[in-house]
Amino acid sequence: MLSYGSGRVDVDKTETVIAPIIAPSLLSADFAALGAACRCAEDSGCNWLHLDVMDGHFVPAITFGPMVCKALRPHIRGFMDVHLMISPVDDQLAAFADSGANHMTLHVEAGPHLYKSLQTVRELGCSVGVAINPGTPAVAILPVVEIIDLVCVMTVNPGAGGQAFIHSQLTKIREIKSMIAGRAIKIQVDGGIDPKTGYEAARAGADIFVAGSQLFSGEPTDMGDRIRYLRHEIMRGQA
Ligand code: DX5
Ligand code: ZN
Repeated sequence: MLSYGSGRVDVDKTETVIAPIIAPSLLSADFAALGAACRCAEDSGCNWLHLDVMDGHFVPAITFGPMVCKALRPHIRGFMDVHLMISPVDDQLAAFADSGANHMTLHVEAGPHLYKSLQTVRELGCSVGVAINPGTPAVAILPVVEIIDLVCVMTVNPGAGGQAFIHSQLTKIREIKSMIAGRAIKIQVDGGIDPKTGYEAARAGADIFVAGSQLFSGEPTDMGDRIRYLRHEIMRGQA
């Protein structure tokens, strides 16, 4: 079961609603000031941060590893969601747990022992998710639904921020929504999320919205406005 800061926000102070979770992705932040980016995102109204770990093997890019995650932990008051775009993954899990990660998402495509890897993440005390690439069918998650807290539907090809949303993945979100019915599993969408695609993904059934370039591309001072507008459109889609 995912335990994270509530998505509760007071909407114009007259009511409290469970707001959708918006997860700023640090991939689009200033890598020379990642601690400040974490603080800015949280001060702007988010309590779930998405850290994209890339190894130059599972995806061409290399970003950062457990040492950087550990260095960022003191700058993150809320939920540290580590998206592992690495392969092989098993030898790194303990170090990411030690870094202070609350959650790890592993790729279905990352190795031959997915079930065991997911079990290991749980044994390390973190919540756990699976990510599936645009070319991977929804049924790939079926063998592991009993031990996951989250499904991350990649709505871009993993490895970079600022890409265009792949609309065909909306069907996959709807498929997964019905596959996990009755289970406490969240659907996270990751890639190309802006107010328009966030609305569409919300309508399809997504619960958690990763956004990198949409939130970090402008001035830090107006990140709060961008988050509020994105949240507004997502909630419109969930209505
Ligand atoms: C891509 C990453 C995403 C990416 C999202 O491999 O997993 O989290 O940073 O960035 P945007 O929102 O710019 O597509
Ligand atoms: Zn990601």
